[in-house]
Amino acid sequence: MAASRKTRMAIAAMMLWMLAFTPAYALDNGLARTPPMGWNSWNSFHCDVSAKLVEATADAMVTSGMKAAGYVYVNIDDCWLLKKRGPRGDLVPDPRKFPRGIEAVAAYVHRKGLKLGIYESAGTTTCAGYPGSIGHEKQDAAQFARWGVDYLKYDNCGDYRGETYLQRYTAMRDAISDSGRPMVYSLCEWGNEAPWNWAQPVGNLWRTTQDITPRWKTDQPDNAYPRGIMDIADQQAALSAASHPGAWNDPDMLEVGNGYLTADESRAHFSLWALLNAPLIAGNDLRTMSKEVRDILTNREVIAVDQDWGGRQGYRVRDAGKTQVWVKPMSDGSVAVILLNPGRGPVDIEATAQEIGLKHADDYAVRNLWQHTDSVSHGRIEANVATHSVAMFRVWAGSKDAHKSPK
Ligand code: GLA
Repeated sequence: MAASRKTRMAIAAMMLWMLAFTPAYALDNGLARTPPMGWNSWNSFHCDVSAKLVEATADAMVTSGMKAAGYVYVNIDDCWLLKKRGPRGDLVPDPRKFPRGIEAVAAYVHRKGLKLGIYESAGTTTCAGYPGSIGHEKQDAAQFARWGVDYLKYDNCGDYRGETYLQRYTAMRDAISDSGRPMVYSLCEWGNEAPWNWAQPVGNLWRTTQDITPRWKTDQPDNAYPRGIMDIADQQAALSAASHPGAWNDPDMLEVGNGYLTADESRAHFSLWALLNAPLIAGNDLRTMSKEVRDILTNREVIAVDQDWGGRQGYRVRDAGKTQVWVKPMSDGSVAVILLNPGRGPVDIEATAQEIGLKHADDYAVRNLWQHTDSVSHGRIEANVATHSVAMFRVWAGSKDAHKSPK
């Protein structure tokens, strides 16, 4: 007898549920259970990478207090290698930039209690024209493992030799797994194929947009290069359901302290990335950063929002042109809130406890995450917010002490 429509629907729902919750749905490498934190050479140095820079950056990560605040990965981006593979087909680090090879740099970084990341591409060349990994995945992953690499950013340049994006990105996933060394696997296909729909079982993080640039806004169309901070934020608004521990949306590396961004813009950028559970990969020169920039990158109350998983990445609840409100549920039942002024001139921004998703209470405990002050509210969260700036709060219904993080 044919199964009734109801039974068939119930079976289909069960299969979907099983598909979603079997371990294969997430890349099961046990890494990046919280969004990865670190530094990457590209945004400030482009092709000007060297062992000297990487080692001095590792030193600065420790002495600046960034390591203590949670930053771990020191990542070398493009241009670390020679334009030709070696006689056995191996990738060769450029001896002028890395005279003692990558292994020695990895050892240095490891001695500091940090981890090393490297860059390759899922095509015939990297974006700067160096040899890519397509067809060499096993050999390259094995070599990275021998060198002691802990993180691979895998780009999307070169020729794809007729392979699909899924073939190209899973080939390297499997090669890393076969190498026997755990490596965070960061997909960088610029959001081209909507990776938030398929990348969870493939990588630990996936870029959602074209490259970031240190400008507030470019007003270019969505797929245009490069992207300003607000252009990228707009593109993240609908993606919050796609991420979970071990699998993160990546709105690109930080530009805090870079280019034309003001301190307010850098604070807004950092606040939004934290609310989005984005990887916090600094892209500035850690050796020379000002105290102001260091204070932004090491704001532990904002970092705590990024590193907390309350069951959902943050999202926008209001876009009224001159004012925006973004929220993120936190594990202890509180809500992180950003009141954002995307435009010019100061504006008063106000949100209710109801709008940010908190239950009714007589009092709300409010913590200002940039001013580090406490206050009590009867249901309104408000601030006067300057040009291109945010106010960021964490709000508890009732008293803070009544909440405990489920650990
Ligand atoms: C692409 C990536 C960047 C950077 C460069 C390196 O543009 O998106 O993040 O890695 O390549 O060439």
